[in-house]
Amino acid sequence: MFELLLKGGTCLTPSGRAEVDVGVSGGRITAIGALDSSQAKTVFDAKGLHVLPGVVDPQCHFREPGLTHKEDIGSGSASAALGGVTTFFEMPNTHPNTDSAERLAWKVARARETSWTDFAFFVGATNENADTLGALEVLEGCSGVKMFCGSSTGTLLVDKPENQRRVMKSGRRRISCHSEDEARLQERKGMFADQGVVAHPELRDEECAVLSTRNLLALARETGRRLHILHVTTAGEIPLLEANKDLITFEICPQHLTLAAPGCYERLGTLAQMNPPIRDGRHQAALWHAVRSGLVDVLGSDHAPHSLEEKAKPWPTSPSGMPGVQTLVPLMLNHVHEGRLSLERFVDLTSAGPARVFGMRRKGRMALGYDADFTVVDLNAKRTITNGWSKSKCGWTPFDGMQVTGWPIATIVRGNMVMREGALQGAASGQPVQFDL
Ligand code: DOR
Repeated sequence: MFELLLKGGTCLTPSGRAEVDVGVSGGRITAIGALDSSQAKTVFDAKGLHVLPGVVDPQCHFREPGLTHKEDIGSGSASAALGGVTTFFEMPNTHPNTDSAERLAWKVARARETSWTDFAFFVGATNENADTLGALEVLEGCSGVKMFCGSSTGTLLVDKPENQRRVMKSGRRRISCHSEDEARLQERKGMFADQGVVAHPELRDEECAVLSTRNLLALARETGRRLHILHVTTAGEIPLLEANKDLITFEICPQHLTLAAPGCYERLGTLAQMNPPIRDGRHQAALWHAVRSGLVDVLGSDHAPHSLEEKAKPWPTSPSGMPGVQTLVPLMLNHVHEGRLSLERFVDLTSAGPARVFGMRRKGRMALGYDADFTVVDLNAKRTITNGWSKSKCGWTPFDGMQVTGWPIATIVRGNMVMREGALQGAASGQPVQFDL
């Protein structure tokens, strides 16, 4: 007897697209094939829909504790579920920073109570905890270490190579890095102030990213440590990353594939401001090359909400970051519809990719024995992304008013329906992801 049977959908399985039914028992996938509805307590009619392995968003800022006027784990994970995301990894630049075992355990306990989806948290590297990260990265619910090599929102920063080296020598899991060169950022501080936010990609220019990534690659090679470069934005980094795939994985964000300078700044002002910045078409073309050629490993939203009041401050005092966990799936399905990537490549980037990069157990694959996490989508649905649909506490999205083709219809986490047709279902029952250590 199945708890849930997904009937009649087109499933994205490891063998390719197949019109098969999927049976779920005990929160796991227990049968794939032609299955009998009378064998199931609940039948989900997936006819005309595509059933994808659950989408993982490995870069979200949910702001709890300390900054909960922007977001909290409950609201951020609800936003994830409404957007078709079944698992998120959350960043450590909260207040206080997630930089100790106690602070990590607090987030895991809070998420057990309030998260709609499965979850894990990054522990933030600091100059103080650099030698103890090996003990922190293996704790329950930890997706690994995050190192800010250049300053962004908050106070986390490990900018000196001698301290970055200490971080890389502690522990063995893949380290996720925000790669911008702090010395160059400081040199350029105050420049372009009269030009407004359209100069954001000049202030934090290509050289900031390339310098930092080049330094990180050298340290990775010296220490033998595996790194993951978050939100890559520049054409200049792509060949460097390609030449170091034995040690390096990397992420691209949907907004960098969708918005481009200078138009996005002229239209959205500081709402388009994030770090590293949205750049011009030359960089965007290089990122699409990385998608199409198989180079990039994962997509992450870098969901980083700030209130409209905060965003109304004049650049450069306005905070960097934009929400994105709820729009990742619709934006990328629209790119699938417009022929920029295949649905198979989208699945590779959002489930198989994160599972491979971070070593997730039982996730990232529609196969027997795996968690029954599914993102059910209608590839033909034409909808409009709106601020009103956005569940983030910040109440806005840079994609307000955008018409897309392709939409998440249901979000299923370990067999529990948590979203159906735009409404949350049941209760928050997320669990920590387990990892190969
Ligand atoms: O734009 C950004 N916002 N980039 C980051 O690195 C941090 C994030 C935030 O937390 O606001």
